[in-house]
Amino acid sequence: MSDAVKVGFVPFSTAPRGILVAFCDDGLKFGPATSNVLGAATDLVKRAAAASQFKGKSGAALDILAPEGLKASRLIVIGTGKASALKINDFLKFGGVAAGKLAAGNGGMTIMAERPDGAMTGEQLVAIGSGLRLRAYKFDRYKTKKKDGEEGALRADVSLAVADVAAAKKAFAPASHVVDGVIIARDLVNEPPNVLYPEEFAKRASQLRKLGVAVEVLDVKAMHKLGMGALLGVGQGSARPSRTVIMRWNGGRKGAAPVAFVGKGVCFDTGGISIKPAGSMEDMKGDMGGAACVVGLMHALAARKAKVNAVGAIGLVENMPDGNAQRPGDIVTSMSGQTIEIINTDAEGRLVLADVLWYVAKKVKPKFMVDLATLTGAIMVALGTEHAGMFSNNDELAERLSKAGAESGEKVWRMPLGPEYDKLIDSQFADMKNTGGRHGGSITAAQFLQRFVDNTPWAHLDIAGTAMGAPKTDINQSWGSGYGVRLLDRLVADHYEG
Ligand code: BES
Ligand code: MN
Ligand code: ZN
Repeated sequence: MSDAVKVGFVPFSTAPRGILVAFCDDGLKFGPATSNVLGAATDLVKRAAAASQFKGKSGAALDILAPEGLKASRLIVIGTGKASALKINDFLKFGGVAAGKLAAGNGGMTIMAERPDGAMTGEQLVAIGSGLRLRAYKFDRYKTKKKDGEEGALRADVSLAVADVAAAKKAFAPASHVVDGVIIARDLVNEPPNVLYPEEFAKRASQLRKLGVAVEVLDVKAMHKLGMGALLGVGQGSARPSRTVIMRWNGGRKGAAPVAFVGKGVCFDTGGISIKPAGSMEDMKGDMGGAACVVGLMHALAARKAKVNAVGAIGLVENMPDGNAQRPGDIVTSMSGQTIEIINTDAEGRLVLADVLWYVAKKVKPKFMVDLATLTGAIMVALGTEHAGMFSNNDELAERLSKAGAESGEKVWRMPLGPEYDKLIDSQFADMKNTGGRHGGSITAAQFLQRFVDNTPWAHLDIAGTAMGAPKTDINQSWGSGYGVRLLDRLVADHYEG
């Protein structure tokens, strides 16, 4: 795991070491324990703030080197803005801002985890700790020369100074498992495609067995037997055989219907015979971002022993041009029995999902299923990189996802489905075709998927804009963002546990 920061907790009274971080509001006011530690340096802060126009705006940081009167190597004051208006995501951001200030040779960091207007709740402390770890992540596995002073070269210890150490530790444990899940997802997305092909991906997913997750791997022969002709057609041009992986975590009531998560795992998408242009094709190593999220989520749920029955299912293929590859004009038969005319071999994600969704609907019979897929470029045109596109046949599930999105900061925006769109994927030779033309490209893709969910409550998240290559933020500096792990962990925690 490319995890640079260790987070621990100490009492307020412990002498701070390394970098000292303190929070102030937009009136440059500190909490009581923080004021105590700063002592005479409070005046220094006032002068430095005036000199650098620091006004305590939320997330702004004032950096004072070798502060007089303090043992700290640096004093970093982070603004909270108006303290009464703070939301949980702000604390995640503060952790991220603090981690962004870590530098080699500063001897670690102590954060006075106190609001300007008093104590932090357990949830707020935990969010700071999570933000620290999320921000400090760096994928540097393949850099043989690490530069000094690079964030990645750091192995820093960060202490959060709190009133109640035992309570803080207890609250942080489950949240830290969720961060581990995000990091697993990021690692998978960032891995190069020569390393992470379907079999290797299945192997990594199988490591969840250590946490008590039952992992079943379907090979090509097993998938043939099930009739997964849509998924297998995508993989047939690759020298790397396809896999489907089903992960089961049974932390809930015995026999209770599970919640299910399905991921698109195209380990590399060249487009196939309908080959993509060369520009940025390397990004298509991230076309398994949905599957990566599902593995990260299953890790989070199992590691924090979530009281839920959950199934994760991922379709793993490589989409390559080859003498054996699928052609435009081919007609494949999906596991559902429905036939599909291939118009464009680059619309492969929906073919993979068609069989995995059907498998889960029929074999798992879940309470609901949510699929995640880097499915269409069109969703980036529509929503950019701030929201994932959400399509659903169930208003309750859609509303819960929207709420979990707002709470976690991994936002979704609901898009329409409707029978009017069906004619765009009518085929003159088969039950349907795999593309619907340029207009409404994300919608026709979702409309296609809906044909493979039967009556199961379902939501589809098109994460092409959010899973990879999104702009860097206070809590993510990585190309692969791990999008969806915190969103879906939140969904489960809020509604489906216990
Ligand atoms: N994996 C791509 C979608 C994608 C593009 C994700 C860019 C992330 C960044 C998907 O398989 C694809 O190629 N979709 C086509 C569909 C079209 C052929 C109907 C697209 O969006 O152009
Ligand atoms: Mn494609
Ligand atoms: Zn793709």
